[in-house]
Amino acid sequence: MIYKYVYGQPVTTGAVIKEIKESTEAIALMEFSEKEETLTFSCEMKEQDVVYGLGEQVRGINKRGFSYISYAADDPIHTENKHSLYGAHNFLVLYRAEEKTAFGIFVDDPGKVVFDVGETKRNRLVIHTGKDCVVYAIEGESLKAIVKEFRGLIGRSYIPPKWAFGYQQSRWSYGSEAEVRSVAEHHRRLGIPLDAIYLDIDYMESYKDFTIDTERFPDFRGLVKDMKEQGIHLVPIIDAGVKIEPDYPVYEEGVRENYFCKDENGEDFVAAVWPGKVHFPDVLNREAREWFGEKYKVLMEQGIDGFWNDMNEPAIFYSEKNLKKVLEEIASIQDDNMDLNAFFHMQGIVEGLCNNPVDYKSFFHNMDGVKLCHDRVHNLYGFYMTRAAAEAFEKIEPDKRILLFSRSSYIGMHRYGGIWTGDNEAWWGHLLLSIQQMPALNMCGILYTGSDIGGFGSDTTEDLLLRWLEFAIFTPLMRNHAAAGTRMQEVYRFENTESFRNIIRIRYGLLPYLYSEYMKAALSDEMYFRPVSFDYPKDDHAFLVEDQLMVGESIMIAPVYTQNASGRYVYLPEEMLMVRMKSLEERDSRVLEKGHHYVEIALDEVVFFVKKNHVLPLAILDEEVKSTADVKEDQYEWVGFADENAGYVWYDDDGISKDYVAKEMWKQRGVNQ
Ligand code: NOJ
Repeated sequence: MIYKYVYGQPVTTGAVIKEIKESTEAIALMEFSEKEETLTFSCEMKEQDVVYGLGEQVRGINKRGFSYISYAADDPIHTENKHSLYGAHNFLVLYRAEEKTAFGIFVDDPGKVVFDVGETKRNRLVIHTGKDCVVYAIEGESLKAIVKEFRGLIGRSYIPPKWAFGYQQSRWSYGSEAEVRSVAEHHRRLGIPLDAIYLDIDYMESYKDFTIDTERFPDFRGLVKDMKEQGIHLVPIIDAGVKIEPDYPVYEEGVRENYFCKDENGEDFVAAVWPGKVHFPDVLNREAREWFGEKYKVLMEQGIDGFWNDMNEPAIFYSEKNLKKVLEEIASIQDDNMDLNAFFHMQGIVEGLCNNPVDYKSFFHNMDGVKLCHDRVHNLYGFYMTRAAAEAFEKIEPDKRILLFSRSSYIGMHRYGGIWTGDNEAWWGHLLLSIQQMPALNMCGILYTGSDIGGFGSDTTEDLLLRWLEFAIFTPLMRNHAAAGTRMQEVYRFENTESFRNIIRIRYGLLPYLYSEYMKAALSDEMYFRPVSFDYPKDDHAFLVEDQLMVGESIMIAPVYTQNASGRYVYLPEEMLMVRMKSLEERDSRVLEKGHHYVEIALDEVVFFVKKNHVLPLAILDEEVKSTADVKEDQYEWVGFADENAGYVWYDDDGISKDYVAKEMWKQRGVNQ
């Protein structure tokens, strides 16, 4: 059951697709108060209650004990003390442990929203929103049912092409055709399957969107074609900022048609990002959105069928106005024996140039005739940039799935694309964080997601990359990505290439199951990744599990995420079949009883657990497998754990067209023990 409450004059965000009648009574589940520009909703929590959700955020699966702020932030050093990451996902579920009941809250407010989940007062959940918002309260008979109800409200999750479930290699700095070919050649020569190579900003001419540097990529179309013939898709990046440069058509047209965000004087707002000074397309404006979306065609005409949208919080290195102020202030300093307070002040104002909240208050959108300060709708920018692209794809290639994902997002964007979890670091802690973010993102409809494998910033290490891959073989987006200047981290750069190869091949072996489970989750508004408690609500201990996940209907994973570990403790909420794989060819399994176990997991091993009376397909691939297109049904073996007999209904399709629900795509297989 969903209740809708409207406060003030909310912006229509596009998060919700279902018409719900407005409730006139107060939210029964929460206390309400109003103060100047803020509304507050709160309720008591008992010690054992659990709070799930909030999508891309710091800290654990149970969000209790901290405050989370929805205000999309470009913060690569996201340590535990940070309150905001790249996305803003205002949906949480409070589970009442004693009563064994739960309810969900979705705050549809695209400005800043604070979720104080027991930080200020340990047993109090407090939500502060702007005064104009819509709040949805969702009741249901189980955690899964509440999420499903919510997902029905916000609409079906984005479905990428099947090739986007293959292994993908990325790096900020692939700067020439030769470099791209070399990445492909290494994977192919060593028999490491690969479905995509990413192009970061280095493929563009002076970081200008929708351009190609023809000196370094003299035959882009030819490169795209050659790669595709090898089963590899090239996926270019698109940034939010449009370079200010006379004669650059995107800039010229945007200025001419008034498609850019404006400053308080009605002039095009000027910020600086990678290309230097830029304007931001006003993607909240329908016409500007259509115009920006159509630009993707330039690359699609060259054979491109996947994109990633970046810097769309939008990230601002500095604004023209703020930079001027800061430079003037520094120039006024005449003292070469600077007082320390003055020194730290100077340091602060320089660092504060980046993503400054004052800048977010100083530019404006024309949202279909209504002038809106950016700050009020800040969290919509990444969503609408991605929507611009997705809506254009519908026109350009209506029958084809195009890969699309974004850095910044808001609930609603999950219908148009996926996300990656932004700039993490090559830290063990960020591997754990990425495990913990997955179910929270799935609750919010974001199914196509994954983190930068190995870590984006800092130098990765072989063991970290191996462990990360052992988890990431289960994430729909499986992309190795790193920052320019860090250690090269393509898997062939490491001593034990064979171990990496084996793990990546296991992903391809699991593909029939993973793809099928993804599609089921997307088509029936369910979660692909779930906290263990969602499947075992009668087991009190399941609610305490912070580092294991249910993946699809048949399996549970318990990734290793600590350095030098030779295994880990795993909690089994029921008797399960432990499957251990060093490679597709080397597999053994045994039944473990319900309870706590220490499980040895070597650095080059994948371990997962099959639920009782469940089955999954595993493709035993030959040596020739290069990409997802080579995974065939006649290679399937069935891994099952059944008392009597168990079955599996699986989904498959051509992976490219959009005829998802056709009956022949559902097949059934029974397995007898
Ligand atoms: C920031 C993105 O998060 C990162 O993935 C990308 O490599 C850099 N921008 C450069 O484009």
